[in-house]
Amino acid sequence: MEQKSPDLATEAQLSVIQRLIQADPDWHESLTEEQKAEVMWDWTLWARPKQLSPGGAWRIWLILAGRGFGKTRSGAEWVREQVMSGNAGRIALVGATAADVRDTMVEGESGLMRIFPPEMRPRYVPSNRRITFHNGAIATAFSADEPDRLRGPNHDLAWCDEIAAWRYPDAWDQLIFGLRIGKDPRLVATTTPRPTPLIRSLIERDDVAVTTGSTYENKANLAPTFLKEVLARYEGTRLGRQELHAEILDDVEGALWNRDMIESCRVHTMPDLVRIVVGVDPAISSGESSNETGIVAVGCDKDGNGYVLDDKSLKGSPTEWAHAAIALYHRSQADRIVVEANQGGDMVRHTLMTVESQIPIKMVHATRGKRIRAEPVSALYEQGKVKHVGAFPQLEDQMCSWTIDAPSPDRLDALVWAVTELLVGSRLPPAVVPFGATRQSPWEIN
Ligand SMILES: Nc1ncnc2c1ncn2[C@@H]1O[C@H](COP(=O)(O)OP(=O)(O)OP(=O)(O)O)[C@@H](O)[C@H]1O
Ligand SMILES: [Mg+2]
Repeated sequence: MEQKSPDLATEAQLSVIQRLIQADPDWHESLTEEQKAEVMWDWTLWARPKQLSPGGAWRIWLILAGRGFGKTRSGAEWVREQVMSGNAGRIALVGATAADVRDTMVEGESGLMRIFPPEMRPRYVPSNRRITFHNGAIATAFSADEPDRLRGPNHDLAWCDEIAAWRYPDAWDQLIFGLRIGKDPRLVATTTPRPTPLIRSLIERDDVAVTTGSTYENKANLAPTFLKEVLARYEGTRLGRQELHAEILDDVEGALWNRDMIESCRVHTMPDLVRIVVGVDPAISSGESSNETGIVAVGCDKDGNGYVLDDKSLKGSPTEWAHAAIALYHRSQADRIVVEANQGGDMVRHTLMTVESQIPIKMVHATRGKRIRAEPVSALYEQGKVKHVGAFPQLEDQMCSWTIDAPSPDRLDALVWAVTELLVGSRLPPAVVPFGATRQSPWEIN
């Protein structure tokens, strides 16, 4: 059921409006005000053909497309179409996090609150995560990092955004289990792809209609700053094949991790941890073209197994990353922050201590190359000694695609510092540190 996807919009991929403009840029001038309002809210005129649901007896419509393709808008418009035609009674909206559902799927520029004409605008009550439409249909917002909330409620329709970035696959299973009321329960999933088991299995299924497309196809509707940034970051890179052109990438020869290794270390719960650190690899500058700051929390249990707990890496000013690192330190109840100090170590320490003066910091210096530092960490994964609690899509992308000549893998560096601190070298597992001291003093500062 695949629709073909050359990168640039060909004639056949243009919307009705784009074709009208090509024929006569002033085509709309002869319209009455009433007709203009009708045109304005008629998605079938604005959508490029790939953004309209394909025919056929699909149960799941999977849109795998590059950043900015118009995935979210397509998903939201499909929900609108179903509501308007009376096909929808109970709709599930599922995003990667609660903030993603609220800020993107519901209130975002392509979200449900923006696409209905004023007289039919739905009512959104954030406190009960619910949207009520003019005809009584109801949509409820769910976050894929709280899969338990999806256990129980039944739906006749679902729209899932960015499924390749969901932390727990269980969310998908629970949703599908509850998608069982109405005559024809259907689901639309919109996402930039990743080679996750879920994506791989969906594209093989007969009841899944797959639409693929690239960022460039929606170029005309993208803010120039967004386009500039996303192209500068990804065009010409391997990851760009995924992020812009929606290719499902294979493993990379020479990378220290591969997808199977990571899938086999995935767990959903963690044991009691005896020690937790937050690894930080700070970006040297904070301009538009600067790198991200890697911020990753890792813990270890009494048997010396590591658990990756969270990835809060971001692109931001020193104050922003320091706040994020310290917030993660508190949230994960970490013992200390381990931060690379090769570039501007004093400034890095000062930045963290300005946000919280007593924060326990360990400055670490890279004396060996990145690959040499990363190899023992990758070996621990191979031995099954490091687990991921849920999925960390961007970190895992870096792990599986980084080779020595690839751009700086900030998330991976932060992970390597944290795992090294906890598990690499001659250090004994914390539980057997003499005199029963299992955690280091949180106030110790190196
Ligand atoms: N056919 C269209 N006509 C006009 N504007 C469109 C069309 N499709 C999408 N857009 C607009 O393009 C912008 C990007 O769309 P959208 O947010 O849906 O893309 P996305 O693929 O979900 O992006 P991201 O990768 O950032 O999640 C939005 O402003 C959206 O309203
Ligand atoms: Mg989107």
